[in-house]
Amino acid sequence: MTVFQFNNLKLLTELSINKGDKDKFLVQNFFQSKHSIGSKDRKLIREYYFTYIRYKYLINYFCTNFLKKEENNPEVIIILIHNLLGNAIERRVEVNNELEGKYNSTLEHLKLTDLDSEIRAKMPELLNDFDKLKLSTDNESLSILHSTPLWIVEKLQKDYPKRYKQIVESFNKESNLSLRLPINLNRDKIVNELQANSIPYSLGNYNPCAIQISSKVDLNKLMMSKSPFFEIQDEGSQLISIYLEPQENEKILDYCSGAGGKALHIADLTGDNAEIVASDEDIIRCKELYRRSSKFGYKSIKIVKQEQLHTNYKNFFDKVLIDAPCSGSGTLKRDPHLKYKLTLEDINKRAEVQSQILNEVIPLLADGGEICYATCSIFYEENQNVITKFLAENAEFELVDVDVSTLIGGSESLHIENGLNTLPYLETDGFYMVRVKKII
Ligand SMILES: C[S@@+](CC[C@H](N)C(=O)[O-])C[C@H]1O[C@@H](n2cnc3c(N)ncnc32)[C@H](O)[C@@H]1O
Repeated sequence: MTVFQFNNLKLLTELSINKGDKDKFLVQNFFQSKHSIGSKDRKLIREYYFTYIRYKYLINYFCTNFLKKEENNPEVIIILIHNLLGNAIERRVEVNNELEGKYNSTLEHLKLTDLDSEIRAKMPELLNDFDKLKLSTDNESLSILHSTPLWIVEKLQKDYPKRYKQIVESFNKESNLSLRLPINLNRDKIVNELQANSIPYSLGNYNPCAIQISSKVDLNKLMMSKSPFFEIQDEGSQLISIYLEPQENEKILDYCSGAGGKALHIADLTGDNAEIVASDEDIIRCKELYRRSSKFGYKSIKIVKQEQLHTNYKNFFDKVLIDAPCSGSGTLKRDPHLKYKLTLEDINKRAEVQSQILNEVIPLLADGGEICYATCSIFYEENQNVITKFLAENAEFELVDVDVSTLIGGSESLHIENGLNTLPYLETDGFYMVRVKKII
């Protein structure tokens, strides 16, 4: 690491410590204000910085317990990460393989050798404790090791007693990039290009139209991105429209459509032969759907404002998809800051909004119609509990028994209880989906 890299990393770490986890655009704004940092330096600074964010509790624990230093000293944090990576700890916690081996030629450039030597001298003791931490089975150790707030670990243990450890471990694993190809697109062209560029890929585990590649691949460098007849969409998210089982000629409402990823998929699944209405509380969010829909030439999607929906479409829809606003706890692999920001209070507030949205769409549903409720959360409060409450308050609805094994195949990472969760410890992010039917 050069002095220049070190100093800029120190600045960024300092900023992050001072602003807490509030500023979502911290890294982006930091680099925007520093034109002198070239792409190679940015890459290294980002890698170190995100290692710190991903393993904040573990790093703080080592700082205070072993080094007896303040946990908020950026120099200590950076040198500690540097030594951890240099001491092959990365292979054990999978911190970051790319940084492996950079240690030897680095910190000698800096005038920080005293601190470096001091930290290095303590590494055997620290690694020893790290091994003990890995062997412990209590939730506190799990929380430190994977830098996840204890209340989240405990909540997941309650909801997924047999799988919560794998789920917590997954929060610091690299996530894939999933592509969704239209049903009628010949996959060979895309597969050939991936092969020609030696890019490892795998075909979807659930959706035959999905391809998974590493999130480190720069799609812009590939020919296929010039005629982008694919969507970037997590494979778990792709399951939602499949789970809905949309049929040709059905009237389908995408009530929280945002930029319309699900509406586009529904159009594809129905051969552009359903009547799809997309709406959102914030209609500006649907603007992007116009562009995306015309890219594919779809004619079956119409965007309608919420007010019009409630006056002109009463008792109209066969199916209503609610891709509800949620905590995003299923996407912690992609957003390492998020785990420190979540609060139980916020989750409970979200559950209230989710219940409200479910009740809002009832008048829009035709007799015998169905609501498909989905979130990108893995918390029962936003998922199973919301549906249990809805069914208790609305006796005219019942759960639909979806035949998951024929629809999307079985997998160890699917969790089925009052609906279906994909869990983030294998190939996807964590999503929840369930269908309820209005009985005539
Ligand atoms: C998870 S996002 C939807 C993503 C989108 N379906 C997609 O596939 O790209 C949730 C959306 O719900 C919208 N929303 C929030 N509250 C709402 C409400 N009360 N009624 C309708 N939409 C709402 C938000 O504006 C946001 O676009």
